[in-house]
Amino acid sequence: MTSAAHLSVRARRTGLTVLIGAALLAPAACTSAAPTASPTTSAASSSTSTADPTGQSGLPEGGLTIPGIEVAQSVNNDPALPISIGRPIVPGQAALTDAMKTWADAKETAFRGDYLPSPESAPELNITWQVAMANGSILGVRLHDREFAGASGQSTNQVFYGDAATGTVKQAVDLITAGKVDALAKLVWDGAAKLAAPIEAAAPTGSAAARLLTDLVFAPDGTLTAYLDQGSVAAYSAGNLTVTVTGPQVTPLLSDFGRAVQAAVASGAPYAVPATVPAAPSTPAEPVQPVQPAQPAQPAQPAQPNPGAVDCSTLKCVALTFDDGPGAYTGKLLDSLAASGTKVTFFVLGQNVKIRPDIVARAVAAGHVVANHTWDHRDMKKLSATEQATEVSSAGDAIRNATGVTTTLLRPPYGSFNESVRGLGQAIIMWDVDTLDWKYRDSAEVTRRALADVKPGSIILMHDIHATSVDAVPGLVSALAQRGYTLVTVPQLLGSTKAGSVYYSRSRAG
Ligand code: NI
Repeated sequence: MTSAAHLSVRARRTGLTVLIGAALLAPAACTSAAPTASPTTSAASSSTSTADPTGQSGLPEGGLTIPGIEVAQSVNNDPALPISIGRPIVPGQAALTDAMKTWADAKETAFRGDYLPSPESAPELNITWQVAMANGSILGVRLHDREFAGASGQSTNQVFYGDAATGTVKQAVDLITAGKVDALAKLVWDGAAKLAAPIEAAAPTGSAAARLLTDLVFAPDGTLTAYLDQGSVAAYSAGNLTVTVTGPQVTPLLSDFGRAVQAAVASGAPYAVPATVPAAPSTPAEPVQPVQPAQPAQPAQPAQPNPGAVDCSTLKCVALTFDDGPGAYTGKLLDSLAASGTKVTFFVLGQNVKIRPDIVARAVAAGHVVANHTWDHRDMKKLSATEQATEVSSAGDAIRNATGVTTTLLRPPYGSFNESVRGLGQAIIMWDVDTLDWKYRDSAEVTRRALADVKPGSIILMHDIHATSVDAVPGLVSALAQRGYTLVTVPQLLGSTKAGSVYYSRSRAG
């Protein structure tokens, strides 16, 4: 994108903020794409609209951070059928957490039913999430599903709302009273039709109307923004369209729950889970957790400690590496590594670092190395050079904000990279021992595979998002030590690394 286009995005964002109030979310005009159509601002207009012509992001910028949220990250590391699913585990909101899991599981099941693994043209599923609103006892979470097959891709959003005070969980369309869904769909459709020629003559009704309204978020002034899937109203090439409906227009259409969400956003009250939750027995009472505004930069930690004086030219060195976190088991792994005095290397996802900066800072403070596994685990070969650069730089920024460390080590998701990835200023860190821990989910099998293939100078691939992998670590560490291995970090193993070079082990690089 040119700098002129950037300027137009900024101008548009400013304009939209005025129109829809101080929104919790940045409007849909993402930095990756400039809208082409102007929002309608005439007094007679019922709505304002924007378009994201490339539709590459499908996800509004921003997202809030809620203390205590854990990430459930699920990744299959089959390069022929790459699947990465991240979703939140929300403290005090078991019903919300379960509903999002059910939705993501259904997407994965459908995807696996639709596509077979293909090494030549791998279909990809990638689900990510962000907090859409957080006020009072209500939390809104947007799940973002992207599927790619061949040259085409499609994406869809679903916003879930959970009320910690009542244990209620609803989807976006439930903000609208049942008999009024068609009416809102028509308002939204007509607003979107001002931006791009609609694919159908008339607005959808019934279940088709409900399918249009999967991403609805209030602004503090009571307006409702509908964020539309690409291809849902106009041609796919028109991008993601957003339509904002004014408070006076939308309020009569709202359900009781919708009015409660609208009021919570308008209140501006910080998100807090009630101390006693009258919900399902599986929901433990949580301490009150005030919402944090945008994640602040953490106080800078000391720079990554210098690799200790380990001479891997004479010692039998091996590096344990853990991908895809930080996650729910990373803290337990750090405990067990501390007990044995073992230092390892974590290749982390930027979006998970943003949620759990504390645990990444703890890893660095304990002497581990934290390095880049991109922002959200896309197959880099499917992305443009610009998108590849953003994946790496945004994850690098998240790591730096959390730890003060600037990393120049990159492990591309699925081990998938091309020449332009090599040009991003990072050393590419692959592996020569694959425990296939994501596949077998069996601690004994993880250990067996690691010990069967390990050689002096090996880099062992594991994933700390699996309990079975974390459970295997104490036994694996002592078995390696018994065989005379010294466990080191990747920088200790490789010494100085070169940007653009690819490292599979200490002795195999190119
Ligand atoms: Ni990975």
